Amino acid sequence: MTGQQSAAGRGVDGKLLSRLGMHSESDFLQGVELTGPVQTFVTFGAGTGGLPAVRVKSPVCEGEVLLHGAHVTRFTPAGMEPLLFVSDRAVFRDGAAVRGGVPVIFPWFGPRAGHPESPMHGLVRTRAWKLLRVAATAEGVVEVVLGIGDTAETRAHWDHSFRLELAVRFATDLGVRLTVSNSGAEAFRCETAFHPYFVVGDIRSVGVRGLLGVPYLSKTEGMARRVEDEEVVRFSGETDRVYCGTEGTCVIEEPGRPSVVLEKRGSRTTVVWNPWIAKAAAMADFGDAEWPGMVCVEQANVGDDALEVSAGQSVEMGAVYRFTGSSR
Ligand code: BG6
Repeated sequence: MTGQQSAAGRGVDGKLLSRLGMHSESDFLQGVELTGPVQTFVTFGAGTGGLPAVRVKSPVCEGEVLLHGAHVTRFTPAGMEPLLFVSDRAVFRDGAAVRGGVPVIFPWFGPRAGHPESPMHGLVRTRAWKLLRVAATAEGVVEVVLGIGDTAETRAHWDHSFRLELAVRFATDLGVRLTVSNSGAEAFRCETAFHPYFVVGDIRSVGVRGLLGVPYLSKTEGMARRVEDEEVVRFSGETDRVYCGTEGTCVIEEPGRPSVVLEKRGSRTTVVWNPWIAKAAAMADFGDAEWPGMVCVEQANVGDDALEVSAGQSVEMGAVYRFTGSSR
């Protein structure tokens, strides 16, 4: 038996394959070769919500990325609590966005200006990506690379040719790196974001450090323009702020819990969001009582920070999320 057969054989359940319209393990793996430590630390099968996933269990962490949306739904460094929040009401199906984890947003953020027919937060969080590569070290650090490109369906909304790759690195920290390539003949402008949902104990005692002096648009105040005058941003109601022109590291702090450090590169926007009571109640895929238990601090390029990508060029945006106390 080859390495590919043995690793896949452990992970993929025949019933799941047929439910997903896949005929064999190689349909799932899509030609990806599994060798060396990958066979020890990685399995392929039903992830959260029953969608196809690459699952990691190694001495340094446990985690999972769905092919749907290239969506990381689980990450727990060894000896720590889960980093990512996923709603109990999340919907897991083609065409829907998963409420929680790390949604990947491209080529527009939020509602698309002037296009009410276009979906919120772009085109790639609700579609299946392809598994491109999986690699692992002997210590149990695993990198999974997924890709997606334009189709007739995406061009009907946004008429550009593109290739995206998302590399997810499962280690003592969680790394995500998005490469946007313009495979068309003309330059395009796009917005990008990682929209991670972090678990917190109670949002009312959470602070987000790292935004002092940064100008922001407050969506809950009719896009009012303000400048952050607090060293630590606190939450006392619905909060939806787009901080502009900032490349700095943020830290999510809460008494009695390890802080979460969010480093980024290739990103000039940071979005901070908690829906609070009324918005939580209005969202069908979010429990009414779940809002105290999460916060989104997003690494993005939005509005004036949108990316210009010339024909044939690529741009990258990366983020690393780690608990203080978890080694690097
Ligand atoms: C945030 C936006 O990034 O995402 C909010 O700033 C929005 O305005 C939130 O409500 C959730 O969006 P969605 O499409 O996942 O419900």
